[in-house]
Amino acid sequence: MNLSSKRVLLGVCGGIAAYKAVELLRQLSKLGAEVQVVLTRHAQEFVTPLTFQALSDQPLLTDMFRLEQEREITHVAAAQQAELFLVAPATANLIGKYANGIADDFLTTLLLATTAQVMLAPAMNTKMYLHPATQHNLATLRGWGTLIVEPQEGELACKEIGIGKLAAVETIVEAACAYFRRGLEFEGVTLLVTAGPTREPLDAVRFLSNASSGKMGYAVARAALARGAKVILISGPTALTPPPGCTFVGVETALEMYEAVLQHFPAADVVVKTAAVSDFRFVERHPYKMKKDEAPLSTHFLRNPDILLELGRRKGRAVLVGFAAETHDVVDYARGKLVEKNLDLIVANDISDGRIGMGSDTNRVTIISRSGALEHLPENSKEKVAGAILDRVLPLLPRRGA
Ligand code: CTP
Repeated sequence: MNLSSKRVLLGVCGGIAAYKAVELLRQLSKLGAEVQVVLTRHAQEFVTPLTFQALSDQPLLTDMFRLEQEREITHVAAAQQAELFLVAPATANLIGKYANGIADDFLTTLLLATTAQVMLAPAMNTKMYLHPATQHNLATLRGWGTLIVEPQEGELACKEIGIGKLAAVETIVEAACAYFRRGLEFEGVTLLVTAGPTREPLDAVRFLSNASSGKMGYAVARAALARGAKVILISGPTALTPPPGCTFVGVETALEMYEAVLQHFPAADVVVKTAAVSDFRFVERHPYKMKKDEAPLSTHFLRNPDILLELGRRKGRAVLVGFAAETHDVVDYARGKLVEKNLDLIVANDISDGRIGMGSDTNRVTIISRSGALEHLPENSKEKVAGAILDRVLPLLPRRGA
């Protein structure tokens, strides 16, 4: 792929894998990218600044405190002009600092100042990588839309064998290329995604809901934004932060989601309905907190409208993608929903294994298309599942400019 005129900032942390960043710089430059390198103080103990400077046309950035005022401003501007800010290797320390907004050296300062897409390629000892603190920080960063080039398994500098080895340089280069390719694929496409649970109130404090965390829908929103789509995210209550750049509509009940979706549907080229919509609502909603003595021991429900069924009726040019979380006969039920709701794709997952799917960070799904074709995907992060869904949506979009 030709990366000419693409501006990349390459941050290098101190770690044994720092020497691989030299090859990364060489390969990205060979593809035509304008790469400027930022070295932490520790990185300079592993590889000399001269090595990087010899391979880059851009001034090397090393220590903000030694910079002249004027150059410092120029350099912060460079962080804002870059399109991709790649940190490889990214240590546990860098990941922890970035996830917590700490800016105590030049690299972390630039990370906070940049408007570029940030991509991290972690490299560290297995125990450090698997430590809940690191995993929590990575989850936070993914939530902000940071792209993570997963480390690989192998022999580490400490001689242990396990996960934590920097991804192969070719893999990181491919991830950078994929990012630049992605920027174009969904340009001009409006994608509406619904996420999270809905809540059906019984009174001022009690409600009927489900275990959906919204993670799958937010991952779809982030992936679509990264690939250039205009994203409308309609979400029930979740603990997640809407990705910057999307149009966010927060709702509570299924009826509110129904109204919001129908309002935005005419603008949508693609609808991905990950939301776990409550099929029922209470007949009555009490405006105050009911005392236990006055609460009925049995109650009546009303059926909520099926939002996706309604979209299927109005379908038009939109590509419709549904989800089906099932505990048994997964594929049969999912196929039935695909036909009944007039969908293009349905993403089925088996939630009988409570470890994955609803609420978790991973998912194992089967994607079923209108033609009946089945694709069983292995268990993967929701980011990867989101990417796989978008990959299948792409060929279904009407050819633009045709
Ligand atoms: N859905 C919807 N509106 C509803 C219920 C579901 O738009 N009131 C959408 C979901 O967002 C999902 C798909 O329909 O994309 C399938 O939802 P699911 O809850 O699995 O199935 P239901 O159609 O509700 O059927 P059942 O509860 O009988 O499995």
